[in-house]
Amino acid sequence: METVKVNASKEYDVIIGQNTVALLGKKIKSFFGDVNVCIVTDDNVAALHAEKAVKYLDEENLKHKTFVFPNGEKSKSPEVLFELLEFLASNHFSRKDVLVALGGGVTGDLTGLAAAMYMRGMHLVQIPTTLLAMVDSSVGGKTAVNLKAGKNLAGVFNQPELVLCDLQMLLTLSSEIFADGMAEVIKYGVIADKNLFETVKEGDIARNLEKIIARCVSIKSAIVNEDEFDTGKRQLLNFGHTLAHSIEKMSNFEIPHGKAVAMGMLLISEISWKNGFSSERCQDEIVDALLENNLPITCPYKTSELYYAAENDKKSSSGKISIIIPEKIGQCRIMNIALAEFKELLE
Ligand code: GLY
Repeated sequence: METVKVNASKEYDVIIGQNTVALLGKKIKSFFGDVNVCIVTDDNVAALHAEKAVKYLDEENLKHKTFVFPNGEKSKSPEVLFELLEFLASNHFSRKDVLVALGGGVTGDLTGLAAAMYMRGMHLVQIPTTLLAMVDSSVGGKTAVNLKAGKNLAGVFNQPELVLCDLQMLLTLSSEIFADGMAEVIKYGVIADKNLFETVKEGDIARNLEKIIARCVSIKSAIVNEDEFDTGKRQLLNFGHTLAHSIEKMSNFEIPHGKAVAMGMLLISEISWKNGFSSERCQDEIVDALLENNLPITCPYKTSELYYAAENDKKSSSGKISIIIPEKIGQCRIMNIALAEFKELLE
């Protein structure tokens, strides 16, 4: 078992290992006492893992309810958020109680935002069930729902009190969904760790999974500890993401986040190299890493089309946009450019 500490506005542990969900009841009881717990999960994950989570709450005699919503990005919406808030109110939850996000990125983001809003803030525990959520979205406190104009446009920073990454939950993932998480792992390699990149490029994943997840979370923790509110260094975590968000939006969220990030990382690496922004050519190694991990290397949209979807991205403000440039594998930098220049690059 590995524990990574996050020291942001809140200090908390990210515990990674086999059957860490068994800690759920004990940790909640020791942190908060005899509180009520609401597990928030989608219909897929509910069928696979809710019973186990409930068992560990029952063992500590903690009262609980479960809110289940339809799986998929479309549920990351103001409508489902308010259904959840109404559910909490009609079941008399108080601000002393705990929300448990049991699921992937959609569940974590939605639940994190509800936890911040309900009675101006209740406790939050994240139990990510996908690789993507373990290495990225469950850690660092970003929460949001999507608006019609774009992804993650309504949200707040809300750090959890605890993150339990249970490797056994990964066993039920399809290879497609596992691959989505690998896109974020490759991202960490490109932005911060050449050794990690080499490991995943060689496809040496299963044997090293606990260490790989812990390494990604450590990289993220170090960045979040320095720049929790995403005004500087944290933007490095968005490598590939500006174009990825456009790709997701253009596909009406049919292309999942991880695959879109794979395409976005490759496109921005190609653009960076062609325009002399990178000191080393990275795209060939990124192609190898993506292929080894069952990720796409072609994008169904022209880059010029992606510009219009990117205009509304949170990463753009006052006519400028931040893009993340791979200097070389293991090192990226943030470049602020005018939207007009970004448009030219994409054309
Ligand atoms: N997923 C990017 C971040 O947490 O900042």
